[in-house]
Amino acid sequence: MAEHLLEVKGLKKYFRLGRNQVLHAVDDVSFYIDEGKTFGLVGESGCGKTTVGRTIIRLYDADEGKVLFDGMDVHKLKGKEYKQFTRKMQMIFQDPYASLDPRKTVGAIIGEGLKIHRLCKTKQEYTERIYELLEIVGLSREHANRFPHEFSGGQRQRVGIARALAVNPKFIVCDEAISALDVSIQAQIINLLVELQEKLKLTYLFIAHDLNVVRHISDDTAVMYLGQIIEMAETNELFNNPMHPYTIGLLAAAPEADPDYERSRPHMLMSGEVPSPINPAPVCRFSSRCPHARLKCTEEAPELKDIGNNHYVACFKIQEGWV
Ligand SMILES: Nc1ncnc2c1ncn2[C@@H]1O[C@H](COP(=O)(O)OP(=O)(O)O)[C@@H](O)[C@H]1O
Ligand SMILES: [Mg+2]
Repeated sequence: MAEHLLEVKGLKKYFRLGRNQVLHAVDDVSFYIDEGKTFGLVGESGCGKTTVGRTIIRLYDADEGKVLFDGMDVHKLKGKEYKQFTRKMQMIFQDPYASLDPRKTVGAIIGEGLKIHRLCKTKQEYTERIYELLEIVGLSREHANRFPHEFSGGQRQRVGIARALAVNPKFIVCDEAISALDVSIQAQIINLLVELQEKLKLTYLFIAHDLNVVRHISDDTAVMYLGQIIEMAETNELFNNPMHPYTIGLLAAAPEADPDYERSRPHMLMSGEVPSPINPAPVCRFSSRCPHARLKCTEEAPELKDIGNNHYVACFKIQEGWV
């Protein structure tokens, strides 16, 4: 058993857009997740969350750095080991409708992985397993012969979860898995994911642009900005004691669930646009929008450093105690 179930070390993923144009989608990202835990990855659209998820499950090659899963270098796996890996790691997507083949019955969709990995010996075992999976996610066996369009958004996400679970994974990347659903349905799916995690000892990378969502499910949380993690800590620590000016701005911009508090709390909205991730300068990427930026921030890039309590921040103001 490796020290951590998943370890991402110095991961870089660049997209080459043309002559001298390199988009730094993920630019030196490191974190780890222990077995049975949930790691939340948050940040505005375009900051690189999906690219992190896709590189971890090897839908993309990495430009630099590595991903260790149970101690094995994911991007070097071959043959049988690679096939094992594709079973142990699964992904759930934002839009379950787009990711479910409309021509296939729900049973066939859920059963696909069972066939690929030859997990059932007989037709009867296969059918029983599909019924079991439907029931695990709160659907019923009668749903097996229906088609995705006959289901509501929440039910479709349950089908997506059943499909992921079919192959007995250890690790699931939930990429905006509940972002497209109504708030009341979001809570149901979160509860289901938490329940499944306990029952099946699952480990999650939980990606969302909505901080409130991540707060309730994650043990640890990292905030991304323009391809980099700028703050990371145990979730309560991060939300109770945010330090990076970007995290503070994001929290101020996120609507609160409690309407009374929502009306009375201070709203500090960030000014300026997110700069381009193409050929970024080696400076603090938030400096162009930061109310505290000094000359140093526009000359050097701060590293992500532990400032105590396993609370990591990439900000000169915090690291050097500027007032
Ligand atoms: N296949 C691709 N080719 C080129 N650029 C991409 C590709 N996928 C993502 N990007 C760019 O990489 C950056 C990060 O995208 P993404 O990982 O989807 O962010 P997020 O999931 O946080 O919204 C964005 O600037 C996006 O436009
Ligand atoms: Mg995304």
